[in-house]
Amino acid sequence: MKIIVTENHLESCEKTAKIMMDIINKNEKPILGLATGGTAEQVYEELVKLHKNSNLSFKNVSTVNLDEYIGLAPTHDQSYRYFMNHHLFSKVDINIENTYVPLGNTEANAELKKFQDKLNSTKRHFQILGVGPNGHVAFNEPNANLHANAHIVDIAESTIEANSRYFNSKNDVPKKAFTQGMGDILKAEQIVLLATGANKSDAMKSLLLGDEISTECPCTLLKTHPNTTIFIDKDLATLIGYNG
Ligand code: PGA
Repeated sequence: MKIIVTENHLESCEKTAKIMMDIINKNEKPILGLATGGTAEQVYEELVKLHKNSNLSFKNVSTVNLDEYIGLAPTHDQSYRYFMNHHLFSKVDINIENTYVPLGNTEANAELKKFQDKLNSTKRHFQILGVGPNGHVAFNEPNANLHANAHIVDIAESTIEANSRYFNSKNDVPKKAFTQGMGDILKAEQIVLLATGANKSDAMKSLLLGDEISTECPCTLLKTHPNTTIFIDKDLATLIGYNG
């Protein structure tokens, strides 16, 4: 793993967007693995700026997202499809038909098969990741066993709590989701994980301060990936006592 301490989260996002731009420009048909969440939001803002100011074109880009809530329609403002359309897809020249986010309000088993087929048939050049306070990656929640493949998950209570800030009440947060498995995620050629905020301390300590890999902290599996970069801002790095 390459670990880069940045001045602030904005710098982490700018650097990630530049990496994505290089991948888009270098590949004839770039395939990007995308993530939702507060951490990634500014990366998409930076990509939109690069589209407007630096001729970055998404015409040949395809995307596959990490996960989606089960039970929310794509038009629901907390669905991950809505997030992607709102923050990126509607603001660049991507062909929306080349974007895939699992459909949250359809027959779940059929959609799960579609999701896995999509993952099996696309070789992601890149995957962007955030991390949960409990170390989850996508909706791969801490557990004695993790899944390699896409699956339907019961969202952890702590994640429901963390995500309830986006809903009217905790009861409105869906209890189930589709998620890529850890094996799917680790198949991406290049991975960037960004972390900011004191609530990510425990996860980042497990990821950066030791050599252990544990399914009880899913992000530690990234230690096995040959081309992963972690961007952590100075405040969080200082808080966990990481000094390179
Ligand atoms: P966040 O979520 O970026 O909103 O903190 C990350 C995650 O839970 O994976």
